[in-house]
Amino acid sequence: MKVVIIGSGYVGLPTSVGLAELGHHVVCVDRESSKIEILRQHISTIYEDGLEELLRKNVDAGRLSFSTTHEVISEAEVVIIAVGTPPHPVTKEADLKYIHAAAIEIARELKGYTVVAIKSTVPVGTGDSVEYLMKKTNPSAQFHLISLPEFLREGFAVHDFFNPDRIVIGANEEEPKKIINTLYAKLLSRTKVLQVNRRSAELIKYASNAFLAVKIHFINEIADLCAKVSGDINDVATGMGLDSRIGQKFLNPGPGYGGSCFPKDTEALAYMARHNQVELSLVESTIAGNSKRKRKIAAQLISSVSDVPDPKIGVLGLAFKNGTDDCRSSPAVEIIEELLNNDIEIIAYDPLAMSNARCIFGERIKYADGMHDVAEGADLLVVLTECNEFKFLDFEKIIPIIRRQQIVDCRNIVDMDKAAKLGFKTMKIGLNF
Ligand code: UDX
Repeated sequence: MKVVIIGSGYVGLPTSVGLAELGHHVVCVDRESSKIEILRQHISTIYEDGLEELLRKNVDAGRLSFSTTHEVISEAEVVIIAVGTPPHPVTKEADLKYIHAAAIEIARELKGYTVVAIKSTVPVGTGDSVEYLMKKTNPSAQFHLISLPEFLREGFAVHDFFNPDRIVIGANEEEPKKIINTLYAKLLSRTKVLQVNRRSAELIKYASNAFLAVKIHFINEIADLCAKVSGDINDVATGMGLDSRIGQKFLNPGPGYGGSCFPKDTEALAYMARHNQVELSLVESTIAGNSKRKRKIAAQLISSVSDVPDPKIGVLGLAFKNGTDDCRSSPAVEIIEELLNNDIEIIAYDPLAMSNARCIFGERIKYADGMHDVAEGADLLVVLTECNEFKFLDFEKIIPIIRRQQIVDCRNIVDMDKAAKLGFKTMKIGLNF
């Protein structure tokens, strides 16, 4: 099939590459010519495990190309909108200006029947307003506008594209459902397809992300209680997760959820509910609690070094989670800002996110060359991101260079028994921190 994807970001690019790998002819369109130039040199503009290899393979095979113009749309059987929906700075509702701009461009170019799918996360009812806008722009255009929400995780985008838990098709008509089933035909043997109306599909995406955010916030609060009553959150989470109704996933306590989706989508869902006079009390308190959590953790870290003159903290992890270079709404970034406001010197390391972190902090923090180097002259080490590499910290390498042997693990991934045996003061979230 001939497919055009509008947007080359964390959703658009992996989807373009994935659909090309399934055998379709895909053109990925982005109005930022600098990005398209890079992509045309077979270089991925985002870090995703395995993405660049597949990109190169499919460009070489002639199935994938990149463009800055929308003219290619006239050839397409399916056009997928995967542009950003950033939060409004005050109300936090999803800003649809990029969706609307894309819809107008698409409507102008359509020739013959086309399925237009919104993959971006959009508020319920967006499909209706976009359909109206497209019909107004080009009254003779023949198209069906559907919702095709995306559930892939950053850092695992390639894996998730080929192994989705489900494909949700939100369409009010039969014809586009058949076409989307053909588009994903090669994946249908290993996933479930749920066909629902357009508004339900739009809500499934928000409700799923909000539910996962609530789950994380819940376990974070239980972790705080564990620390007070001498429980161990890891054991509690394991015990809860063994109940198949609860499940083990998303019960890892930490410094709060971050990233480009959960913070934005929970806010947008809460806005939508308020707008419709519906109370979403769990989502509202999750948003407030998650925001408070980062300040609380920063305050605990500050008090751990409050007796030291010119304190210095070594930070392990800057991205919002493991496997990505993305620092957007990263708890690590917010915590570091609080530490800097309290005149604490920071030296930090992240296996993937150093260059993005430099754009945020510039010269305000120091950057270590490797994970052990963050210990140089530090009064405390803190793990803020669950990077796999940190599981292999060698404490014997750290002892000669650290000023005070203290470590806080906000992700509970470090072997603290080993550290304790070597004389470190160890603090784990949901145990003694
Ligand atoms: C999320 C959804 O998982 C995905 O389906 C959707 O398409 C986009 O939003 P992503 O933002 O990539 O994906 O990250 P995810 O792996 O879900 O983690 C989000 C945040 O929650 C991270 O900050 C992570 O560290 C945190 N988290 C996750 C926890 O603190 N504990 C957990 O148990 C799981």
